[in-house]
Amino acid sequence: MRTPVIAGNWKMNTTLAEATALVKQMKDRLDTIKGVEKILCPPFISLAAVGELLRGTSIRLGAQNCHHELKGAYTGEVSPSMLSAMCEFVILGHSERRQYFGETDELVNRKIRATFGANLIPILCVGEKLEERQSGRAEKVVRSQVAGALDGVDSPRGLVMAYEPVWAIGTGMAATGEEANLTINLIRGELRRLYGAEIALETRILYGGSVTANNIGEFVTQQEIDGALVGGASLKADEFVSIVEQSAART
Ligand code: 13P
Repeated sequence: MRTPVIAGNWKMNTTLAEATALVKQMKDRLDTIKGVEKILCPPFISLAAVGELLRGTSIRLGAQNCHHELKGAYTGEVSPSMLSAMCEFVILGHSERRQYFGETDELVNRKIRATFGANLIPILCVGEKLEERQSGRAEKVVRSQVAGALDGVDSPRGLVMAYEPVWAIGTGMAATGEEANLTINLIRGELRRLYGAEIALETRILYGGSVTANNIGEFVTQQEIDGALVGGASLKADEFVSIVEQSAART
């Protein structure tokens, strides 16, 4: 039985003061919800302060990106070893990184390997663009993103994955529960092909893309979907708490 995960990706939102205020609005309520893993991923600049506020609670902390080397002359970058001293998770391969910062499967793969090496848990995102779906290539794209990102990784124990179709992110046009379930089943199949049944069965695979308190039920009731990676709705305390509550109710 996989414990569901609800992760909030705050993206490039919140100043330090806004981030700490948001955590204070939701942390006591989130802390009491059992049966679901709760992860907050604020911007780098707020990780330390948010981590301090979350200390002693059941809420876990993640970053939104990292570099693929552990240290060195890479002005402006943040390394996996810096992060592992501060948080447990890091989102990698997000479509916004692929789209706006030119991240390829190869680069995502280097980051994934560095992350495992530094004892950080990646939340690996994959997902097709609208034109790829419309031309019937969604399945192929998603499979190759999974295999590409995990190339050379012997055992991705603990890995969390997120299926985030690009056309559903920030658009208000979420996939249906059935659609997401089908693709997540396919991702699990790819994990089985690469690593065998045990890893495939234990890896949590989330859905992401316009998840709200109104539609979360549609996703977490699906067999293969183990929670959600939430963008916009994770910036609203009441809505995020409601999403987590509804996901816990599934168990
Ligand atoms: P939205 O929930 O704002 O669509 O964003 C989803 C996402 O990209 C989470 O990583």
